[in-house]
Amino acid sequence: MADSTNILALEQPILPVLTQRRSLRAYTSQPVSADVLKQLFVAASSAASCFGEQPWRYLVGTRESSPEAYDKILTSMGEFNQVWAKAAPALAVSIAKLHFSHDDNPNAWAKHDVGQATATLAIQATELGLQIHQMAGFSVDKIRTAFNIPAGYEPVAVFTIGYPGDPANLPEGLRDKETAPRVRKPLAEFMFEGAWPGVEDERYDQAPV
Ligand SMILES: Cc1cc2nc3c(=O)[nH]c(=O)nc-3n(C[C@H](O)[C@H](O)[C@H](O)COP(=O)(O)O)c2cc1C
Repeated sequence: MADSTNILALEQPILPVLTQRRSLRAYTSQPVSADVLKQLFVAASSAASCFGEQPWRYLVGTRESSPEAYDKILTSMGEFNQVWAKAAPALAVSIAKLHFSHDDNPNAWAKHDVGQATATLAIQATELGLQIHQMAGFSVDKIRTAFNIPAGYEPVAVFTIGYPGDPANLPEGLRDKETAPRVRKPLAEFMFEGAWPGVEDERYDQAPV
């Protein structure tokens, strides 16, 4: 049987929990308890944020205790995401508050900080034996309308939360993706000590301006 943990192999040793985190698509039907959910979102709140603003907000729907919210989040997704996300026992939406509370100026780092909070949540989830899978493939307008999200707040991503299931239960194309080797760019392609790489450098992958 394929290795369903599919741990990320990297060129340097790092914290095991970081290599164990993954965006999987197969889940068991085990519900995520209210206590575990609280732990995940408290972990999110431990993230750093510009001015300490904590611009993250999360909407959560679970199949067991908040099925209407669950359906609203599920049906906001593109069909290609719904096909596997509907197996997850819990769904969430990350939302950014777009202006600073102390002076109402635009917060250019709001989505950055929401991403940091969700990344932190993902690591806490992995440590507890769960996984989350973030998605851009959803309709911001559908979420805004379904949950009456006011101006000044913007849905950023949706994500599943659940316990790893058997990849054999996935549709064929997705099954292969679940067990395919996970890869990352080598360090030399994204860490530049001292200077930005020149256009003649093979690490240079930006179109010249
Ligand atoms: C902001 C964001 C949007 C994503 N959107 C989707 C999506 O719509 N559908 C999907 O199947 N995966 C989506 N992914 C998952 C990525 O494809 C995945 O993180 C990437 O392939 C690396 O795999 P890993 O997270 O297992 O290491 C998204 C991830 C992020 C962070």
